Amino acid sequence: MNSPLTILGIAGSLRRGSFNRMALAAAQRLVPADAKIETFDLHGIPPFNQDEEATPPAVVTEFKKRIRAADAILIVTPEYNYSVPGVLKNAIDWASRPYGDNAWNDKPVAIMGASPGLLGTARAQLLLRPLLTFLNMHMVNQPEVMIAKAQEKFDASGNLTDEAAKKLIQQLLQNLVDWTRRLGK
Ligand code: FNR
Repeated sequence: MNSPLTILGIAGSLRRGSFNRMALAAAQRLVPADAKIETFDLHGIPPFNQDEEATPPAVVTEFKKRIRAADAILIVTPEYNYSVPGVLKNAIDWASRPYGDNAWNDKPVAIMGASPGLLGTARAQLLLRPLLTFLNMHMVNQPEVMIAKAQEKFDASGNLTDEAAKKLIQQLLQNLVDWTRRLGK
């Protein structure tokens, strides 16, 4: 048996009833046996200020430590105005700085997202990919996990009930684990 991998899961929403936070919780239950998903909550990360990048707030230092300690990253993004929500972009920016101290560097990453809309965050994911490329992350390309009509896919307790979505998440996580091992992590 391979040594277990640690995946750091980040949901790009602070909302209490967030579908993306629910989707991340579902991923924690669907992850392959030789990996586990820990989470980092973006609550408390202040707006990025480049004046503070060399001496960032403690929460950012902790965030960067957790990213570096993880073997791989899972980003679960909402879509805001056809794009990546500011909360997520802000957190990504903090952890990428200062220049030469990019915590995302060389990390395998998978992305997924949930939306009440019909496209299930397709546009946000499309825009997230070049950003992660610039940060020198190594992306899993398939399957694309876009949970559309999210209000129909979770029960009142926040459990993902849609079998097709569960299968896709399972496959994405298996591919992330395989990819991470191929990269020798
Ligand atoms: C949205 N929403 C949204 N949905 C979508 O599919 N495409 C979009 O472009 C947008 N734009 C948008 C902008 C802003 C400012 C908000 C607040 C919302 C709806 C969004 O998908 C919905 O609120 C989700 O429930 C947000 O994700 P969480 O919080 O449930 O994880």
